[in-house]
Amino acid sequence: MPATTPASSTPAASAPAFSALARSAPEDSRRLVVTSALPYANGDIHLGHLVEYIQTDIFCRAHRSAGHVVTYLCADDTHGTPIMLRAEREGISPEALIARSSTAHQRDFAAFGVAFDHYGSTHSADNQRLSADIYRALDGAGLIARRTIAQMFDPERQMFLPDRFIKGGCPKCKAPDQYGDNCEACGATYSPTDLISPKSAVSGATPVTRDSEHHFFALSDSRCQEFLRQWALAGEHLQPEAANKMREWLDGGLSDWDISRDAPYFGFEIPGAPGKFFYVWLDAPVGYLASLAEWCRAQGEDFQAHTAQDSKTELIHFIGKDILYFHSLFWPAMLKFAGLRTPSRIFAHGFLTVDGAKMSKSRGTFITAESYIAQGLNPEWLRYYFASKLNGSLEDLDLSLTDFIAKVNSDLVGKYANIASRSAGFLRKRFAGRLLGDARTEEPGSSHAELEAQLARAGALIWPAYESRDTARAVRDIGALMDAVNGYVDHWKPWELAKQEGQDALLHRVLTTTMRCFARLTILLAPILPATAQRVAAEVFAGSTLNTEGPWKADMLDAPPVKQVGEFGHLITRIDPAQLEALLAANRENLAPLAAT
Ligand code: MSP
Ligand code: ZN
Repeated sequence: MPATTPASSTPAASAPAFSALARSAPEDSRRLVVTSALPYANGDIHLGHLVEYIQTDIFCRAHRSAGHVVTYLCADDTHGTPIMLRAEREGISPEALIARSSTAHQRDFAAFGVAFDHYGSTHSADNQRLSADIYRALDGAGLIARRTIAQMFDPERQMFLPDRFIKGGCPKCKAPDQYGDNCEACGATYSPTDLISPKSAVSGATPVTRDSEHHFFALSDSRCQEFLRQWALAGEHLQPEAANKMREWLDGGLSDWDISRDAPYFGFEIPGAPGKFFYVWLDAPVGYLASLAEWCRAQGEDFQAHTAQDSKTELIHFIGKDILYFHSLFWPAMLKFAGLRTPSRIFAHGFLTVDGAKMSKSRGTFITAESYIAQGLNPEWLRYYFASKLNGSLEDLDLSLTDFIAKVNSDLVGKYANIASRSAGFLRKRFAGRLLGDARTEEPGSSHAELEAQLARAGALIWPAYESRDTARAVRDIGALMDAVNGYVDHWKPWELAKQEGQDALLHRVLTTTMRCFARLTILLAPILPATAQRVAAEVFAGSTLNTEGPWKADMLDAPPVKQVGEFGHLITRIDPAQLEALLAANRENLAPLAAT
């Protein structure tokens, strides 16, 4: 990464990597290890999560298409009190709970075309070893402090209570039944000891305060603060908005971070500290490395080559803005002082709202991935819609259901798929599906050649947008190209040429140009619509020499290897508003007040 580019010039800041494409020299190829945040094992994947996993997947696919080597990793985040208590409530072991979630999560991601190279678990031998190693290294560097603190304790259940598991009256507005850290009625923040008649959400007992020794990562140490300031504010590790946040946090001064929890706790016991466990957020990001270690072992790759301080591999984390603090403060400092390489980039995104409001179970807008698939909705509709909204910033994005229907029906069906359906039938009927060659060589100077040239050039426009995660711009620019192709078809009217005598050569040329440009549009859209792109290779261009496994590469834009058009059904169907009604109904819950989960 060029460390000299000012942080404010995010878009296309590193476009040269993509322009190296045309040469496709192997030495220009980058090595990327990319992660999405590790979803908690105690919840279902919902459309909010999918913003992140789809964004990351598109980024990985675009980079692979451009000839870079990408390893996309994730894992389930399995530790902590909520998971322990949930398993208990269900009468199963935490191990059984996390195994079930892992299966469900991987099923949901696969259904949306999110293709990890490896999906691990933070409850793994590699993660235990790496977490312990990092802890010992930090301890060796004098960065682990041990102090006794007082905390709320449930005398009945015999456990310390996280703030979320204590409920009581708000000390400010007196609203009953508020969580231990903040009031949902008036927004006040406070400590659980301030609550009016606090109760344990686990047992209902009145908590008492009790002392216990905790382990802290000494972020207040000047070495950490100096390192983080330099890491966050120099170079391009963070987006400008995130760097500003960091500046605020650093200017406010950092406190030590409490990384231990007392038994009972589902997690890893701290080496040399029986009865003390790593706080879930200590071993969660280490899970990125554990997933990498497992992948390396399976592939026969060298883990150190990717994790050593001088590694040439780019380590890129996609996260939601809510977990920026953990990823931009704790994580780089942990890595740095454990002698490991630090992240190259942290890309945060905003939160999903549905029709302008927070996802809500009572409105049915807390939509699970599973229900979306079960209702028979096409996952690529959502990939396309999210892509059209994501611009690489931390802004929230809204899934407006009417806009969703309009965009998918007009862009994907009306503009994109329509190009193929208007041309392929004539090609099969009149020319046995055979395509001519490139108009730029066979009829140079013609309007056919011009259109081919316009589409062949489009990579210079589109790939930098993908690289800067500005898929909204990619979608807009690809939309303009679709308009150009449809305008060309409208101009030549193949359906009229087909009726005229002696126009066979022109008809063949127009249909060929249209389909060659359709192939190019497919190359440009493939990171967003991988399943459709694969069908286009296998069905629309059946009989061409395309490898239908990973059919499309960015360097095919100039001369897409399409020779033949086959028989195919609807590539993408229209969204019927009734399907969305049914989706909301399936997710609508009449919520009785629930205990904390
Ligand atoms: N387990 C932690 C991450 C540990 S990473 C070492 C966690 N899990 S999560 O399941 O709550 O969220 C996983 C990712 O999904 C996070 O990056 C989070 O920001 C993102 N999202 C969860 N809900 C979201 C929306 N409503 N909208 C957009 N992203 C959301 O955090
Ligand atoms: Zn209140």
